[in-house]
Amino acid sequence: MINEAIGEKKLAMGTLSSFFYFFFFFVFFINAACCGGKSHLQQTPKKHVPFFIFGDSFLDAGNNNYINTSTLDQANFWPYGLTYFKFPTGRFSDGRLLSDFIAKRAKSPLIPPFLQPGFRQYYHGVNFASFGAGALAETFQGFAMDLKTQLNNYYKVESWFRHKLGNDEGKATISRAVYLFSIGSNDYMSPFLTNSTILNNYNDSTYFGMVIGNLTTVINEIYRGGGRKFAFVNLPELGCLPGMRIIKSGNNGSCLEEARRLASLHNKALSKLLFELEKRFKGFKYSLFDFNTNLR
Ligand SMILES: *[C@@H]1O[C@H](CO)[C@@H](O)[C@H](O)[C@H]1NC(C)=O
Ligand SMILES: *[C@@H]1O[C@H](CO)[C@@H](O)[C@H](O)[C@H]1NC(C)=O
Ligand SMILES: *[C@@H]1O[C@H](CO)[C@@H](O)[C@H](O)[C@H]1NC(C)=O
Ligand SMILES: *[C@@H]1O[C@H](CO)[C@@H](O)[C@H](O)[C@H]1NC(C)=O
Ligand SMILES: *[C@@H]1O[C@H](CO)[C@@H](O)[C@H](O)[C@H]1NC(C)=O
Repeated sequence: MINEAIGEKKLAMGTLSSFFYFFFFFVFFINAACCGGKSHLQQTPKKHVPFFIFGDSFLDAGNNNYINTSTLDQANFWPYGLTYFKFPTGRFSDGRLLSDFIAKRAKSPLIPPFLQPGFRQYYHGVNFASFGAGALAETFQGFAMDLKTQLNNYYKVESWFRHKLGNDEGKATISRAVYLFSIGSNDYMSPFLTNSTILNNYNDSTYFGMVIGNLTTVINEIYRGGGRKFAFVNLPELGCLPGMRIIKSGNNGSCLEEARRLASLHNKALSKLLFELEKRFKGFKYSLFDFNTNLR
């Protein structure tokens, strides 16, 4: 059921072309972020603009291949990969992910998963995303690398840059980097998909407040380390995914109102948060991709 719900999201993303708006905007962002010209991007390692990717199945490029999880939470089998890579890479897609298109437009190679064995050259960035991941530790616990684990992996890469390039250049590189996030969907779907009782303990505003609070912590941490350029994908209408529509028998296949409400509250809070962070944090820049207006 987990797969069904999330598989549908993937399908929606792959087939609708309006999300291309996102990369055009975003690539401009990457180029503008760098050194004023494309040619600089590939010249020397120190002029690279690393691309760091955090989040869930929308952006997992294969990390879950390397964790002890269930097959439901992996995409390393046929026909995943059918239309582009011609083999299952671990992406939850038949083709490429949003982050792959962005990398391509930025004239950067594809960004490998952090856990890929032997991958240690992080100049172009690295992908920390994990299918099933949420901002809360309880979300599909034991089956995904949650956002906090992803942040801990990022710290390792951050110190790799300082070690490789020296403190100043390492920090300068980090401040040119672009950080992309897709997180939250699983926090709001897992309580319904796993029979968890977590929603009995918290009302809606407390619950999405915890999710947004954890995301805020991660953004703060990255900013404190020098990160400046952030991009976010917000949440689709989670309650209307097929896997969510069938949860309540007797609901006749209509959208699951509780999940829909949570996603909507989350999206409002996220855009408010980013607006405030931009005012509060010097040099903080962001781009927010709105699923619900762009995928229609
Ligand atoms: C992987 O998970 C399974 C099921 O929880 C467990 O039995 C097994 O010991 C785990 N393996 C490792 C290497 O952690
Ligand atoms: C996020 O929330 C969980 C509770 O689910 C907590 O254990 C964790 O430490 C929080 N912080 C971060 C940064 O993930
Ligand atoms: C949730 O509970 C129902 C009813 O007890 C059960 O049929 C179903 O298998 C459970 N689902 C999961 C994912 O545990
Ligand atoms: C939700 O719970 C919190 C803490 O228990 C409480 O302060 C708040 O008023 C509640 N909000 C609503 C809308 O019930
Ligand atoms: C579901 O459909 C049945 C039969 O058409 C109807 O009686 C019932 O009220 C519907 N339930 C909901 C929740 O819409």
